[in-house]
Amino acid sequence: MVMGQLDLKERLQGCIRGMVLIGEPLSHHTYFRIGGPAEVMAYPADLDDLKALLKVARDEAIPVLILGGGSNMLVLDGGIKGLVINLSRSFLELSAAEERIRCGAGVRTSRLLAFSAKAGLTGLEGLSGVPGTAGGAIHGNAGTPFGAISDHLDWVRLVDCLGEERFMSREELGLGYRHCQLPTGAVIVEAAFTLQRGMSAEIRRTISKLLVRRNLTQPVDIRSAGCIFKNPPGDFAGRLVEQVGLKGLRHGEAQISEKHGNFIVNLGRATAADVLWLANRAKADVLLRTGVALELEIEIVGSPSAA
Ligand code: EPU
Repeated sequence: MVMGQLDLKERLQGCIRGMVLIGEPLSHHTYFRIGGPAEVMAYPADLDDLKALLKVARDEAIPVLILGGGSNMLVLDGGIKGLVINLSRSFLELSAAEERIRCGAGVRTSRLLAFSAKAGLTGLEGLSGVPGTAGGAIHGNAGTPFGAISDHLDWVRLVDCLGEERFMSREELGLGYRHCQLPTGAVIVEAAFTLQRGMSAEIRRTISKLLVRRNLTQPVDIRSAGCIFKNPPGDFAGRLVEQVGLKGLRHGEAQISEKHGNFIVNLGRATAADVLWLANRAKADVLLRTGVALELEIEIVGSPSAA
């Protein structure tokens, strides 16, 4: 196994400029600070690197996981088999021309917002406090009740499963609540948004107001992955979890937040199994007592235990 990993690392390192690591703990790369190791993790330095990585994976049938900011993801304790492509250090370009912003997939949403405020372009403020990268946010159509990343999206540029670059318009992306229908295996590398002219000071004020509200209602000072469940139509997952009396429930070192029922927090050394136990318990109790079937918002990846 270790020989195979070393061999794969060397082959990948031979064809890209970026860094390749073996056995990298994914707990270092997720907001939860939870997750077993990546068999191999690569940081593409540019588009050619990304294409080369995808080609090797395709040719050798190696499973690929794309990692953005790691903010909406629970990596299981056994880690990830195959190749993790970490996009958090590449595709960082940002530019504005007239009312349009072009943004690399690896740009943090907070940076995109600060950039739009500086450019005097309004429309993205509803994303205030949403962590992670622009690419990850589009992948899950992230947002808040005040707006989603898709609201002003024009197009994305991606590399498809055959390694071809192509553009997809917002209409082609099958966007819905916390949902984006990307072609299987496609990796977003850039996005464009058309916004409206606004006053920088006013945009900054709105962002600050939303951040203050978020700090008051969410456990921002403890590790989590944001909201665990999608809000069901016409209701709120946090309210339902509170209604069934589960706020504050602990399992191992994970806890359903005392502050917001739709957050599970890592009190220190929580495992993915601890988090899953609590998520399953919340789902089961809410279904039993209210009839509402909660759906996970976070993405669960990896193996439960080392093979
Ligand atoms: N509520 C409760 N108990 C709780 C939590 C919430 O009764 O423990 C009630 C609140 O009083 C409020 C309603 O539920 O009436 C909604 O709560 P909140 O305003 O906190 O918003 P949310 O719907 O729970 C959404 C997003 C968050 C985003 C906030 C910003 C989803 C699934 N969640 O939360 O996004 O930060 O709005 O206000 O859309 C995320 O997606 O990871 C995320 C954190």
